[in-house]
Amino acid sequence: MTSNDQIASKNGPGFQQIGQPLDRIDGRAKVTGAARYGYEHIVSDKCAFGYILGASIGRGRIVAIDAQAATKSPGVLLVMTHKNAPAQARFGEPTTATPREVFTRPRPVLGDAHIRYFDQPIALVVGETFEAARAAAGSIDVRYERLQGDFEPELCAATYRPERTNAGFATDTSAGGFAKAFAQAPVKVDATYTTAFESHNPMEPHAAIAQWEGDRVTIYTGTQTLANVRACVAGTLQIPLDSVRVVSPFIGGGFGSKLIAHADIMLAALAARVLQRPVKVAMTRQQMFANAGHRPLSIQQVRLGADRDGKLIAIGHEVCSSTARFEEFTEQTGVFTRSLYAADHRVTRHRLMRLDTNRGEWMRAPGEAPGMLAVESAMDELAHALQLDPIELRIRNEPNLDGTSLDPDRGIPFSSRNLIECMRRGARLFGWERRSARPGAIREGRKLIGHGMAAAIRPNYIGPSRARVVLEPRGTLRVQLDMTDIGTGTYTILTQIAADVMQMPPASIKVELGDSQLPTTAGSGGSWGAASAGSAVHDACTKLKRQLLDLPGIPPGGLQAEGSVTRSAEYDRYSQHAFGAHFAEVAVDLDTAEIRVRRMLGAFAAGRILNPKTARSQIVGGMIWGIGAALMEQTLLDPLHGAFINHDLAEYHIPVNADVGQIDTVFIEEVDERANVFGSKGIGELGICGAGAAVANAVFNATGIRVREFPITLEKLLPFLPG
Ligand code: MOS
Repeated sequence: MTSNDQIASKNGPGFQQIGQPLDRIDGRAKVTGAARYGYEHIVSDKCAFGYILGASIGRGRIVAIDAQAATKSPGVLLVMTHKNAPAQARFGEPTTATPREVFTRPRPVLGDAHIRYFDQPIALVVGETFEAARAAAGSIDVRYERLQGDFEPELCAATYRPERTNAGFATDTSAGGFAKAFAQAPVKVDATYTTAFESHNPMEPHAAIAQWEGDRVTIYTGTQTLANVRACVAGTLQIPLDSVRVVSPFIGGGFGSKLIAHADIMLAALAARVLQRPVKVAMTRQQMFANAGHRPLSIQQVRLGADRDGKLIAIGHEVCSSTARFEEFTEQTGVFTRSLYAADHRVTRHRLMRLDTNRGEWMRAPGEAPGMLAVESAMDELAHALQLDPIELRIRNEPNLDGTSLDPDRGIPFSSRNLIECMRRGARLFGWERRSARPGAIREGRKLIGHGMAAAIRPNYIGPSRARVVLEPRGTLRVQLDMTDIGTGTYTILTQIAADVMQMPPASIKVELGDSQLPTTAGSGGSWGAASAGSAVHDACTKLKRQLLDLPGIPPGGLQAEGSVTRSAEYDRYSQHAFGAHFAEVAVDLDTAEIRVRRMLGAFAAGRILNPKTARSQIVGGMIWGIGAALMEQTLLDPLHGAFINHDLAEYHIPVNADVGQIDTVFIEEVDERANVFGSKGIGELGICGAGAAVANAVFNATGIRVREFPITLEKLLPFLPG
């Protein structure tokens, strides 16, 4: 990959460090191995090793489980099953009606004999070594009563309407009279797109060490949000919140799969308590596919009705996605459609089909990522039908107000919206004028060359957060909060923020994260991390600075201040979103249907960019994920047994370096005063939004073939390619 990124974002008044491409503070610790991840922490007593045994049926009940041989196996300390696991809180009702509660609700493990999904943990074997535990697990004899599970979405006839979507959005919205307006529209697209199950695969597998001292437990793990894990462990074990400490200074990626506590954490906590000895438990890569969340599959009908000038009259986006029978998750796939384009007549709706899998979870840009694959493909289909440039089509449908994002009856202004500038700037830098409007028109030998684009939109959030700063007599500033750095650059940008407010060099700032004993933050998720933790640090530093002004110097005992941030009223008065435009060039082999993404360019308007280097990395990661979503990623559910069958990185395909051509990014100069004290907006998820659709649209432009069933794998293209 090469890059000649242009960073247009200038520094604001008083900002020296913010806006600079400071290298990662934690980079050296990571590349030298000094950074310790969840499984690697050294605890005072010798750790025992847990190995999880998973169910080999997808739905049913354990009738008998014989662990005698395993218990007697050399080096085995404990075999825990539903027969002898300590009592835990009951699992609650399967609803997403209360959005916050899903993060913290009790999640008992080995609680009963029921099997709710394939590979659900049914035993934990703890041994002196990992190998002893794993070998013993193989000798456990299990008899099941098998029930017929629902593993096939096509057979899943009964769909239902959830009360809310994830993140608390309205399930359905409508405005005007969609059916009539769509029926009468002179130009129409009515297309159904499907997206596959996808699995998070952070480099660091889910893992935890639990250590008890009396009735208090410390959990070392990799998590995006310490407060969620703490509440979940306390609630599940029915112990006070103060009895749980969570430590997570470094995290090897999360992508939403580390927002809540999974079985590794709970099993480690239970076993360590029984054994009165620290226990570590890691999921294998294969176990992660069933046990660490996934993106639900979706079937999306998109209906666009326009006049002959390309003005949208009617927009319909109706989504059916999968959910677990035992716990609901409604990916908010149609929600962004309420805010992206203008039309008087509109409808969005979400329905769920129950399957016997583990619950779906948040995966990077929940809703927007699969939703934009569909809607931004449909916009491309409409542009083709109208014989209109796809950028021009979008410009003609730019809304003045966000009509339906929160309340269907209320239009609210956008805090800032520079989608058109993203498209124009991106088109210029990409060389959009070289695209042929006629599909299949550009050939290089046996390759068809195509160009595509798509828009990106992603809501901007802030979450309640606190921070403490301590100025030591020798002049070091310690910045303390329970925030996490999941690889995004949190250590670095918080250093920059503190340095700017305190007017101190970055080298004098020590950022301490990832310990639940520090002030509580909203953690990393929903692209709110930088703004939330950053604003709290900004506030704490501002208060500390005020104290300093009243003093002749730093007192001998040092000086400290606390700061905080909450969601301001500007979030109700304005629709806050970041925007972007993606461009892609692909080459499709006429003989093999091999698709190569030669280059991509993304232009983004996301407020002030706090650190263009870490920002670029985040965006590039998202764009690459877009390639994966468009062309490769799918977790396949065996319709007979309900197992995710391609459950490793050999068979679950993601783009590797060789799959990615040139990627360029550009940030439009923008400061959104209504977002937060920095004027920044979240970017963690923006890069994936629309990226896959740009690739898909380029495939259509290259070949004239529209594949609506994602990912676009070779066999879907090959039969239709010209000779
Ligand atoms: Mo993100 S899917 O909210 O971690």
